[in-house]
Amino acid sequence: MRRPFVAGNWKMNLDLPSARALVSELRTRLPAAPPIDVAICPSSVYLFPMARAIADSPIRLGAQNCYPEKSGAFTGEISPQMIKETGCTYVILGHSERRHTIGPKGPDGRVAGESDEMVAAKCRAVLAAGMIPIVCVGETLEERDKGRAEDVLTRQLAGSLAGVDPAASMDIVIAYEPVWAIGTGRNATPEQAQEAHRHIRGRLAERFGRDAAERMRIQYGGSVKPDNALTLMKCPDVDGALVGGASLKAADFAAIIDGCIQARCH
Ligand code: 13P
Repeated sequence: MRRPFVAGNWKMNLDLPSARALVSELRTRLPAAPPIDVAICPSSVYLFPMARAIADSPIRLGAQNCYPEKSGAFTGEISPQMIKETGCTYVILGHSERRHTIGPKGPDGRVAGESDEMVAAKCRAVLAAGMIPIVCVGETLEERDKGRAEDVLTRQLAGSLAGVDPAASMDIVIAYEPVWAIGTGRNATPEQAQEAHRHIRGRLAERFGRDAAERMRIQYGGSVKPDNALTLMKCPDVDGALVGGASLKAADFAAIIDGCIQARCH
């Protein structure tokens, strides 16, 4: 069985005192040994202090991005090895904000953000450094409205996993994050999430084989809140959540973790 996994993507939020307070409250609210994996993904400058804050707890650490080279003249970037040194287990890759929001605008006014090719290079580098990539995929509202959601997922998966050694596939986590559901308060319905996750698992089976695909975890992300976590995570192919806004409040994040445990571990 796939071990469920809930991670909090803090994005560019919190200052150091509030990050410490959040972790300290989270520790009091979580079971000592939850039957699921739990991680927080703070800003990279807070990785070292957060590694100390989560010591001797079931909470693991993740970074939000990396650069796919070991070292060199890459001003402002951080290598997987540097991230590993902070104590990280996970690295989020290809988040939709990196694909669609951050980066120079092209002539059509659209942001030319991170490409599938870059995500794939990062994915291979993170695996080589001995960490677990959380590879984000998801369609925009325009793509969904045009009936192209599944094509977009197929293309993003093929591109973002290019060149990945099939032997390492089971260490990869996929996060399905429909762009229209991120930070909007409008989550995918359980039916929409299950349909997309089923599609993703099918593509993973084509790429890595049925056994590997059955063991790979696919998180849902996009306006996950305490009141929708249970129903979303009851979907058979939804193996946890990548939580943005609600992971910044200990009570909400703990309630989502509890919803996941109730949905998947009873
Ligand atoms: P929200 O939970 O704030 O919608 O963000 C989702 C997300 O982008 C997690 O990576």
